[in-house]
Amino acid sequence: MTQMREQVRLWGGRFDTGPAEAVARLSRSVHFDWRLARYDLAGSRAHARVLAAAGLLDPDERDRLLAGLAELAADCASGAFTPAAADEDVHTALERGLLERLGPLGGKLRAGRSRNDQIATDLRLYLREAARGLTHLQPAQPVSFGHQLLAHAQPLLRDLDRLRDWDARAAVCPLGSGALAGSSLPLDPAAVAAELGFAAPAANSIDAVADRDFVAEFLFVTALVGVHLSRLGEELVLWTAPQFGWASLDDGYATGSSIMPQKKNPDVAELARGKAGRLVGGLVAVLTMLKGLPLAYDRDLQEDKEPVFDAVDTLALVLPALTGLVDTLTVHADRLAAAAPAGYTLATEAADWLVRRGVPFREAHEITGGLVSRAAATGRELEQLEDAELAAVSPHLTPQVREVLSVASALAARTTPGSAGPGPVAEQLAAVQAVLAGWREWAGQPVLPG
Ligand code: ARG
Repeated sequence: MTQMREQVRLWGGRFDTGPAEAVARLSRSVHFDWRLARYDLAGSRAHARVLAAAGLLDPDERDRLLAGLAELAADCASGAFTPAAADEDVHTALERGLLERLGPLGGKLRAGRSRNDQIATDLRLYLREAARGLTHLQPAQPVSFGHQLLAHAQPLLRDLDRLRDWDARAAVCPLGSGALAGSSLPLDPAAVAAELGFAAPAANSIDAVADRDFVAEFLFVTALVGVHLSRLGEELVLWTAPQFGWASLDDGYATGSSIMPQKKNPDVAELARGKAGRLVGGLVAVLTMLKGLPLAYDRDLQEDKEPVFDAVDTLALVLPALTGLVDTLTVHADRLAAAAPAGYTLATEAADWLVRRGVPFREAHEITGGLVSRAAATGRELEQLEDAELAAVSPHLTPQVREVLSVASALAARTTPGSAGPGPVAEQLAAVQAVLAGWREWAGQPVLPG
């Protein structure tokens, strides 16, 4: 079996050989966890200050370490420093980068911390920023089907609420917990937490490195966002189909068919619908991975990152495209107006009109059913029935009933908050916009101070 001997590793004193190549390949995570480098470096800066405050680094060492970390951060950002094939994970790669820049001094930073508390901290920081980056959710124009669009905005607003609520629980800093037991060195977890923008240090060092609730919860929210976008996507597919013709896609948000020249496909909406599957899958993968894990850190936990990154990347693809699709949709008000009363949708208005005149609803329902049956038999709308025909169905049905038999009057009659009338819909839109403004303010606040 091939052994890898040349590798830079964070462990190995008690080993005669390096890991087998198959083991190294299985263990390696740097190809996906490298995106945590920025957060790992922020944690390293905080840790350097804490070690200095504890008297474990002199001020000159601290300053040289901070300068080396700044140089490494710049090189990571510019792409001048990248992980090498032999780097196991983001922590290994960054330690190599620091050693290359500072020599043995770079090795002092490892005191009092472990990759276990580092990775848990990095992932929390990453997700707290990512939660704020999912800002492409916007309410649509208050067009004639505004109430319907707002019915899609409401679940998305609840998702934003869930993210903010999640963030409060995620804002706990694992650094200082070390591998699982904390450190014998005089570290200052509260100072590190504050420097990294967390609300508090972890309450239990074992839980701090073992807990991935913040991952599972985040993935639940992204899965639910996926489900909500999928339901909207499905409606958009229907609305823009020629058979409905309620709305048309902008050319920029439609795709063609390689064989059928007439087609304008709602691929964006279909992909939004399809991506829900992988978002739900990521949640299930992590919950299944967590189930049965003993405390504290187990290497299984490394499997948390790919679903999380995939969820963030997936929504970063879907949200702008679906937002653009909705933004540029041409709504055909004439077709909607024609479709609205079709199928005797105003029958309930007639029943309610009877109820307002003292007829028990049970009876009103029967009477209106008779009205519909008479109109349908002769291919007419309810309001087209003659006075005598109305009276024949029920003496309660006077010609005044026609006043409620229009879409406009049906909507105007809906004045209670949250209902489909134009007034309540305008109020709802204003409320949604106000909530979004507050949410954008929250999303605009940086996670990592400075
Ligand atoms: N790559 C690891 C992860 O993502 C980092 C922590 C490694 N800790 C350990 N005890 N092997 O979880």
